[in-house]
Amino acid sequence: MEMKIPNPALEEEIRNVFANDSGGHDEAHIFRVVRMALRLCETQGGDRQIVYLAALLHDLDDPKRTGGRDGETALARALMQKYGYGAPTVQKVCAIIEKLSFKGQGRDVPETLEGKIVQDADRLDAIGAIGVARAFAYGGSRGRKMYDPDEPPAVGLSPEEYRRRKGSTVNHFYEKLLLVKDLMHTDAARRIAEKRHRETEAFLKAFLEEWEGKA
Ligand code: ADP
Ligand code: NI
Repeated sequence: MEMKIPNPALEEEIRNVFANDSGGHDEAHIFRVVRMALRLCETQGGDRQIVYLAALLHDLDDPKRTGGRDGETALARALMQKYGYGAPTVQKVCAIIEKLSFKGQGRDVPETLEGKIVQDADRLDAIGAIGVARAFAYGGSRGRKMYDPDEPPAVGLSPEEYRRRKGSTVNHFYEKLLLVKDLMHTDAARRIAEKRHRETEAFLKAFLEEWEGKA
């Protein structure tokens, strides 16, 4: 018998793993993605158990955290096995996690509805007020400048170039934040993304006006 959602012991493990991250992949991000993904399920359908696990475990094997390679799922797999989830569940969740990350072009798309829902939820957290805050938190944690007018943004980077970018956080808006609205899979997420996109654009406009002394 597989454990139903929520799974408090598993959540506690995740909380401990992400507790000390301040660079945008903190514990609060994980649980916002879990809540958003389950909210999307209400109108979009999908297997809530799969959505819950994929959202909860989606950043555990992230190379930015582990120093490992893209698309790995070893830690997520081991944790699900520890909590007694069966092989079909583990397989479905890992297939989602492998395809989730943006990596410069946003080209990887999970095949299942559950995967699309979790990818939408993860990307929604990268835009709007919280997305803006996460970008500057991440940039700060890597010692990046907020903005450098002499350095133009580059769009459509290869995964390697995207990871190696040392550019300003404002450039990251053009390289990711302003692109994700058009990459949503579900109608429910698209509606939320449109509002958050407008907020992201409004922030950027105000930032640049203030920078140039025009506002
Ligand atoms: P994914 O988890 O889909 O691969 P990223 O790892 O690119 O996405 O981003 C995770 C979080 O860190 C997001 O909030 C993103 O906007 C932020 N982030 C990633 N790279 C940068 C960067 N170069 N500058 C500022 N924020 C970044
Ligand atoms: Ni994430």
